[in-house]
Order: sequence, then structure tokens, then C-alpha cells
Amino acid sequence: MAAVRARFAHVATCPFEGERIFFENAGGALTLNSVVETSARYAAIPDNQGRANAASRALMATIERARADMALFLNAPGGRIFVGESGTELLFRMIRDACLGAAPGGVVLGSTVEHPASRSAAARWAEVTGREHVWVRHDDATGRVTPEAYAAVVTPEVRVATILHTSPVTGMAMDVAGIARAIRAVAPGALIVVDGIQHACHGGIDIAACDVDGYAISPYKLFSRHGFGLAWASDRLTALGHDALVGGPDGTWELGTRDTGAYATLSDVVAHFDWLGSQVSDAAEPRARIEAAADAIHAHERALTDAMLRGTDNLPGLASMPGVHVVGGADNPAREGLVSFWADGRPAADIVDALNAAGIRTHLRKADHYSGNILEPLGQAGCVRVSLAHYNTLEEVRAFLAAMRSIL
Ligand SMILES: Cc1ncc(COP(=O)(O)O)c(C=O)c1O
Repeated sequence: MAAVRARFAHVATCPFEGERIFFENAGGALTLNSVVETSARYAAIPDNQGRANAASRALMATIERARADMALFLNAPGGRIFVGESGTELLFRMIRDACLGAAPGGVVLGSTVEHPASRSAAARWAEVTGREHVWVRHDDATGRVTPEAYAAVVTPEVRVATILHTSPVTGMAMDVAGIARAIRAVAPGALIVVDGIQHACHGGIDIAACDVDGYAISPYKLFSRHGFGLAWASDRLTALGHDALVGGPDGTWELGTRDTGAYATLSDVVAHFDWLGSQVSDAAEPRARIEAAADAIHAHERALTDAMLRGTDNLPGLASMPGVHVVGGADNPAREGLVSFWADGRPAADIVDALNAAGIRTHLRKADHYSGNILEPLGQAGCVRVSLAHYNTLEEVRAFLAAMRSIL
């Protein structure tokens, strides 16, 4: 753990508030030190891409290397890897182009568990292209939507479909491959776009196994930094029309000059997963090391969320604290490093403030346009979100449980 934590910036200390435990990873994960260094190095380079000089060639090689690294990380066969303004912007762009390029008529299919990024994009472009936007209901008790739920609603008329990989409110992961199979069994030609923004930092992305057309990530939630989003689009989605310079190369998604340093940080992220895989396995192949890292991350995060829910040493867990309710249930195998809860008679905002005062950073999710889809059916105005990553420790969970005991 010491070696893992040494690789990140501001692990134990906030530059504004001093010492704190960081359980706000779903809002934006810690940044790798290598990403900080890489960003500074590339920010100082004045040259542009596509020129006949050594600096320009080096920038182009950096971008190609980052794309290759991300293709390995995503296990993405073919298609295009590109950056944009943010994960949200890329979801909008891919969903828009899917809606504009799909055969006329039919419907756009999504689910009520989705973050507003994909829900809003699908709602807008379904309307603009004259299609109905159909919802698959998620299960309030488990905080997720299943392939069976999609199968019950999908029709041959589905032209475009959206899937959320992991919910930032419930913390539960969906079976993306299973949902895509359920869609394709009935609507084989549907264009399927996945919001992977909350799942990415837990690792284990396997686009080859999912048969989807688009996958979006926000790199600041994947140990890189703010300022850009990353997407993979299938050859099929890429072949449809999109905003591009007239006469430019086919299949270009990017608009204008990109930040080479942003791309370069993605190689740092993949190198981190590779390093982690080498610490927890003897895997000889890079993809196998990335998979080993993801397995280790899931096991570690599971141990931490189990301790948070069930208790550790003499500290009771959230599940046994009187009046505490865990979103998605305490026993949920789909949980990915995140616990959301509310407590009877104590507003979630107060608990977040009290935890802050105890040096523990969490986040208030409110029943607003971001999280109302999850919280309103539960009859809650808000919940406390505690989100972990693989650099968090059992000591930090103990400090959280001790603080919760005294707060409640
Ligand atoms: C699942 C999911 N989708 C989309 C977003 C929006 O991401 P961004 O603000 O980076 O575009 C978030 C942010 O928390 C998210 O968790």
C-alpha cells in the first residue's frame, strides 16, 4: 500500500484544507504523480502536430502510443480512440451521431439508472430525429438494471441504445456484455453507446467482449487529470457522418488541435495498471497484467466496502448502525468501491459536513437532476456517498467508522 500511495499526489493532505481522508474518488480520483510531471513537460512544448520537424514527429508518436496503450487497456478491437472536451461531451457526440446516422424510424432505448449525461443526450437526439425515447426501469432495491430488464423492453425497432457501466450514485456495476447481448438478440443492428465514466478506475474494461459501438471515459476519474474526455468508437459508428473538416481524412472525430500532454497522461495511467499488475501477478503479457491489476483492485475495494458495511475490529459497520440505510442493499455483489447511505432523522448534508469536520471527505448526492432518478423513487432528498479507490486503506475505513459512530 505504501508503494501504491507513493505514486499519487495529495493522498493524505488536501492543498487547501490540510490532512484529510479522501473518499470522494467518484467525484474525481487522485492524480498520478507521473501525470503531473508529464502534463508540465508537454505544456512547455510549443510545437504543433503534423509538421516536418523532430518535435512534431515526437508529439505525433506520443499520441499514437497513447492510443495504442488505451486500446490495450480497453481491449478495444479496431475502431477509433479520440479525446474531446469531457466524458459528457463525448457521450453527447456519439449518441447524436448514432441517432443522426441510424436508419429512420424506430426508438432510442436507455435506462432510468443512467447518469444525466447519456440520458439527456439520448432524450435530445431521439426528439430531434423523431424517435421515441424508451426507458428500461432499474431496480430500486439493488440500484442497477439487468440484461433481463432490457430484454423485457427491447424491440426490433431499437436503433440506438445506451448503457451505464457503473452508477455514481448506487455504486453498482451493470452487466454490459449481457445487456448488449439482450439488445442484439432482438435488434442486432442497434448502435450501442456505453457510459464507462464511473467504472474506469476500477479496471476490467473489455470492449471486445461487449459488442458495443461507443465507450466514454473521463480521465480525471481514472488517475489522469481534468480538461478532456476519452472515447472509443467502433468502425461502424465512425463510418457514420459527424462534424469534420470538409476534405479532411475519413474517420476523424477530433475537431482542431488536441493536447498532446493529455494523451501522454493516458500512457501514464496504463503504465500504472501495468505496474500494479506486475506487483500482484507473474503475468508476462501487458493485457494480462492490466487484468491482474483490475482483479486486485476489485478484491481490495471489496475488502474495504465489506469493512465499511459489516464493521472491522470492534467498530460496527454501516449496515448495523441504527437508522442507517444503504442504497442498493448491504449485500450486493455488483458494488464497485462505493457506498451510499442515508440515516433516519439526520440530513445527509449534516453527515457530510460532520465527516468533513472530522477530516473525511465524502459527497452529498441530492435528488436533483443528477441523482433524482435514483433518490426520488427511494423517497430521499439526499444521501452520503463514500467512494473509494485502490489506494485507500483499512485504516481510513476505520477512521470513517469511528467518525460515523460519534456523528450518529
Ligand atoms: C457515470 C457518469 N457519467 C457521466 C459523468 C459526467 O462526467 P464529466 O463531468 O466528466 O463529463 C459522471 C460524473 O460523475 C458519471 O459518474
